[in-house]
Amino acid sequence: MEKLRIGLIGCGGRMGGHMSSFFDRAEDVQVVAVADPIEERRNNAAARYGVARVYKDHNELYAKESKETIDVLFIAIEPTAHVGVEETAVEKGIPFLVEKPMTLDVEQGRKLAKAIEEKNLVTAVGFQDRYLDLMEMVKAEVDSAPKGGLVYGAWIGGIPGPWWWQKRSTCGGQLVEQNIHLLDGLRWLYGEAISVYATASRGLVKPGENGVSPLYDTDDHSTVVIRFDNNVTATLVSACYVRGTRPFCGLGITLQDRVLEYHLRNNLVIRTTAETRDIPRKVDQTALLDRAFIDAVRAGDPKAVRSPYADALKTLELGFAANKSMETGQVIILR
Ligand SMILES: NC(=O)c1ccc[n+]([C@@H]2O[C@H](COP(=O)([O-])OP(=O)(O)OC[C@H]3O[C@@H](n4cnc5c(N)ncnc54)[C@H](O)[C@@H]3O)[C@@H](O)[C@H]2O)c1
Repeated sequence: MEKLRIGLIGCGGRMGGHMSSFFDRAEDVQVVAVADPIEERRNNAAARYGVARVYKDHNELYAKESKETIDVLFIAIEPTAHVGVEETAVEKGIPFLVEKPMTLDVEQGRKLAKAIEEKNLVTAVGFQDRYLDLMEMVKAEVDSAPKGGLVYGAWIGGIPGPWWWQKRSTCGGQLVEQNIHLLDGLRWLYGEAISVYATASRGLVKPGENGVSPLYDTDDHSTVVIRFDNNVTATLVSACYVRGTRPFCGLGITLQDRVLEYHLRNNLVIRTTAETRDIPRKVDQTALLDRAFIDAVRAGDPKAVRSPYADALKTLELGFAANKSMETGQVIILR
């Protein structure tokens, strides 16, 4: 089988995940070009794959590369760096996998979704958990139970390393940047939301103290209440102020005859009055995400991925609606 030629835009933390989970192992792909403004990062990526086509950014890459020289692009850059990156990929007709959040500008996202559809281009967004065996089990349990009930979700921890994470204007807030994985999981389980109400709090994390950037201005924690069809109400909390022991992270779903405790990317506990089953994660969901994208490109089938751009945009829009509620104090009615 001919190897698909991959171009990398962004060689930071998350691209490292795609490298170790997929590019290093898959036999039918080959990294052929890399781009990153940080010299050390682009050189390290180039050395890892013996690549000579090394560029300072996406503009330099696009000036030299085309559909004739690259089959697919993987894009993992900070949320505010999406300036002409995906647009040019669409213009050139190059399928791409882009990391969430794909933009902080909803209009840009909508224009792109339309352009992608017009070209029937294969795209994927990095919602890795849609490929997680544990989330598939949660979905099977939820789908086979009487509809309705209570859902609690939590992503609670410390402040991630990248500089752009500590400013709300460059990360979009923890819900949009990080807990968007569980938000997307809720959409996957329950469909489109009816309404969203959210609050956000600050004051615990002090900018400039304990290794925190003096520019820190994002929320310490937030709580989102989302209404779905069938009287499902989900409460989703996010927090980044925790420095010590962490509480439960994941999803807690109360069905009529069983309780599901999905421990974030680790294990799933299913409890009934008769038994308790504790199921560990068995798959590398990033590898499965990347495999699904590559196979969809080979098949020329944009629907063969679980989270194409247009669908991922709906999750992002739900995150933006929650942000709007945090800012205005209003319930946002979505439909
Ligand atoms: N799906 C997941 O589970 C997951 C996990 C972590 C991060 N992410 C997402 O991946 C994205 C990147 O996160 P990260 O942790 O890798 O950040 P990072 O800061 O470690 O890396 C981003 C890299 O992009 C480079 N870059 C910026 N503009 C560029 C351009 N125009 N051309 C080429 N390179 C450019 C930067 O120099 C940097 O090296 C973010 O949107 C983040 O939310 C997703």
